[in-house]
Amino acid sequence: MRRLFPPPSGGDDHEWDLSELAAAYAYPGDHLPGGGWLRANMVSTADGAAYHGGRTQPISNAVDMRIFGVLRALADVVIVGAETVREERYRPARRREEFVARRTAAGQTPVPAIAVVSASLHLDYSLPLFTEAEVPTVIITGAKAPRTGLAAAEAAGVEVITAGDEARVDPLRVKPELVRRGHTRLLTEGGPRLLGQLAAAGAFDELCLTISPRFTSGTAPRVMSGPEIPEPRELELTDLLEDSGFLFSRYRRVRQTAE
Ligand SMILES: NC(=O)c1ccc[n+]([C@@H]2O[C@H](COP(=O)([O-])OP(=O)(O)OC[C@H]3O[C@@H](n4cnc5c(N)ncnc54)[C@H](OP(=O)(O)O)[C@@H]3O)[C@@H](O)[C@H]2O)c1
Repeated sequence: MRRLFPPPSGGDDHEWDLSELAAAYAYPGDHLPGGGWLRANMVSTADGAAYHGGRTQPISNAVDMRIFGVLRALADVVIVGAETVREERYRPARRREEFVARRTAAGQTPVPAIAVVSASLHLDYSLPLFTEAEVPTVIITGAKAPRTGLAAAEAAGVEVITAGDEARVDPLRVKPELVRRGHTRLLTEGGPRLLGQLAAAGAFDELCLTISPRFTSGTAPRVMSGPEIPEPRELELTDLLEDSGFLFSRYRRVRQTAE
């Protein structure tokens, strides 16, 4: 792997170990907007597809998965849309021994919690995501979520976080609700519909976007999918890494003057 931006000082074209990747992707230290930092991590083909055959694996590679793991290892909580949980058969975050000491020193649990965003609450609580998580998986939903779904979550002992007055979650309330619970290093892994809403609301701080040297055509959405934002919003490129033709970009959302 090598750094393309900021321009390298030389000597970084080698296989990066986990500590180098962790340093490259460190969360900002202080003055976090709203008390926390919400990073999104997504992969796209060169022609903009966010998945192929309903899965991201065909458009990813080993280094992308390594970065995926490092970003999880740096996060307090991983926020994910219910459809991604269903399609990708999400499992709890895996304990990574290389990161346990670092996490403990940073005051973090050994693995990040997974927070599933859902309005329908059509979730299978018998899955390992709920039964085998070292740090319990939580649900984020709206105040008017279906009663039967809430009862099922309660029966399964799953914590439900309310972040919206209606059935749906208000994207702007996700970060504050999690920050209030002590989660300041937030990571969302999408999918595209959840990220589209966070994007439209201006509710994310950073986008880590892998551009895979693949194309698929077809109808798969882009990494942000939802109603068009009236005016294009700006991102600032902060880092660009390359390995095997995969580009690993990191953008910071440029805050609007009213924010
Ligand atoms: N390229 C990438 O990096 C990437 C990353 C992740 C996933 N993916 C792919 O994306 C696909 C799934 O993505 P997707 O866009 O269809 O779905 P998604 O964003 O993962 O999940 C959509 C679901 O999340 C819940 N949700 C979203 N916004 C909500 C809100 N404001 N309030 C309440 N619930 C809300 C709803 O769940 P309920 O239906 O339960 O109400 C909704 O149906 C999978 O095929 C996966 O492989 C790609």
